Amino acid sequence: MKKQIAVLGSGSGSNFEAVIQYFFDKGYNDLVEFSCITDKENAYIRNRAKKLGVKSDYVPFKETYNYLRNANFDLIVLAGYMRILPVEVLNIGTFINIHPSLLPSFKGMTAIKDAYNYGVKITGVTVHYVVEEVDAGEIIAQSPVFIEPKMSFEELEQKIHQAEHALYPKVVEQLFENLLKNTCSII
Ligand code: GRF
Repeated sequence: MKKQIAVLGSGSGSNFEAVIQYFFDKGYNDLVEFSCITDKENAYIRNRAKKLGVKSDYVPFKETYNYLRNANFDLIVLAGYMRILPVEVLNIGTFINIHPSLLPSFKGMTAIKDAYNYGVKITGVTVHYVVEEVDAGEIIAQSPVFIEPKMSFEELEQKIHQAEHALYPKVVEQLFENLLKNTCSII
């Protein structure tokens, strides 16, 4: 049976696209089915889902618990999902998130700007498990981004997104491979 992976997003969905494209390029299509879920009916992530042939569902935040409870996903990937999920929802499955800083530095919604304004020379991206406390779950992987002298904020933002698009698909792949292994060991 195909593994079921949900990607939850509220906005542009560039990380969603990077993950889907990576899995497509690797030829995993027969082993996994992705679903795109958004709490914003007109989020651009839905356009990307349509283009990539992934089904997308608009799920208002208050309906998220029932939706995920019924769906039974093997892995839930947050990618720009702008909501704080309560513990009852997090208990439903395994949730991971990507954050645009080297946690535990620069938690919160303005991480790239905060790192830039602080003047750090190295920032980066972090993939972590999601727990109730925001940006505080166990770290799975990180990738550094160097802030060169005279680099503009926009250049940094671009480098951060490139680092996200390189790292997140590989982490999702690793967790997906673990799911496949666990299934095999039961048989
Ligand atoms: C990314 O920068 C991610 O780190 C943060 O939200 C942004 C989502 O971007 N959590 P996108 O929707 O994947 O383009």
